[in-house]
Amino acid sequence: MGKLSVSAALVCLALFSGANAEEKLSMSDADKAMYAEMLENNPADMDVAEGEQLFGNMTSLEAYSKMLGVKEKDLAGYIAGFPRYVDGAKKVITLSQSIQMAAADAGKTVPKLESKEMLKMTAYVKSLANGLKTNIDVKANKQMKEMMALGQEVFETRRGGRGLSCNSCHSPDIIGQRLRMQPLPDLGVNKAAGTWPAYRMTKSETTALDKRFQQCMDNALLAKIPLGSKEMVALEVYVTNKTKGNEIQIPGLKR
Ligand code: HEC
Repeated sequence: MGKLSVSAALVCLALFSGANAEEKLSMSDADKAMYAEMLENNPADMDVAEGEQLFGNMTSLEAYSKMLGVKEKDLAGYIAGFPRYVDGAKKVITLSQSIQMAAADAGKTVPKLESKEMLKMTAYVKSLANGLKTNIDVKANKQMKEMMALGQEVFETRRGGRGLSCNSCHSPDIIGQRLRMQPLPDLGVNKAAGTWPAYRMTKSETTALDKRFQQCMDNALLAKIPLGSKEMVALEVYVTNKTKGNEIQIPGLKR
C-alpha cells in the first residue's frame, strides 16, 4: 500500500508544476547557510514578543491559570499537554482555543483562530513551555480517547481527486522516500508537535500547526478542514500524540 500511495503522490505532484516548484526542492547549500543563520536569529522571535504584549493587554497569566484550574507554577507543564480536555469548555480544545476562552473570560473581543494576533499569542503562550517535552495524554478521559480515534480516521482517510490521505505521505513505511526532490518528513523526527508555531522560510511567515496541516491539504488537493472544527482538533490530537515526548522549542524554524 505504501508503494502504491507514493506513486499516486508522485503523479499528483508531477501535475502541479511551476507555482511552488521551489517548495518541492530540498535545501540548496545557500538555503542551508540561510537556515543556520536564521536559527541564530529566527524572524518569528518577534512574533513571540508581540504575542506576549497582546496577551498582556488582554489578560494575565494568573487569570489564565485560574480559568484553566491550574496553579500558575504548573502552567508550563499544563500547556505542554494541549490539545486537552478542559472543564470550562466541556470538550477537547487546542491551545489557541484556550486563549479564546481567556479573552471571553476577561470580557475582551475574542480573537479569530485565523488572525495574526492569535498566531502570535499562541506562539507566546506555547513558548512558556519551552524545554519541556510534549505530554499529551490521549487516554486521560473518554473525550480524549474519542478525539484520538477520530484524528486517526481523518489522518488515514483518502480524499480529494487524487485519493490521498495524510498517511499516504507520512506513514512510517514511506518516510524518507522522496516526492520529486522533497524528502517526505517523519513528523516525529521533525518534532512536529513541539515546534509549531514556526517560521517557514519558503513562505517567509510564521505558521501554526493547524495551518500547516491546511497547507498540506492544499498541496495534496484535499478539501481544507476548517480551523477549530472537531475534525481539525482531532487531527492535531493524533499528530501531537504521534510525536509525543519531543522537546518544545518555540518558535520553530522550517524549510
Ligand atoms: C502529497 C504528500 C503529502 C500529503 C498527502 C500530506 N503531506 Fe504533510 N508534508 C509533505 C511534505 C513533502 C512535507 C515537508 C515539506 C517541507 O519540508 O517543507 C510535509 C510536512 C508536513 C508537516 C510539517 C512537519 C514538520 O514539523 O516539519 C506536517 C505537520 C504535515 N505535513 C502534516 C500533514 C497532514 C496532517 C496531512 C493530511 C491532512 C498531510 N501532511 C498530508 C507531504 C504531504
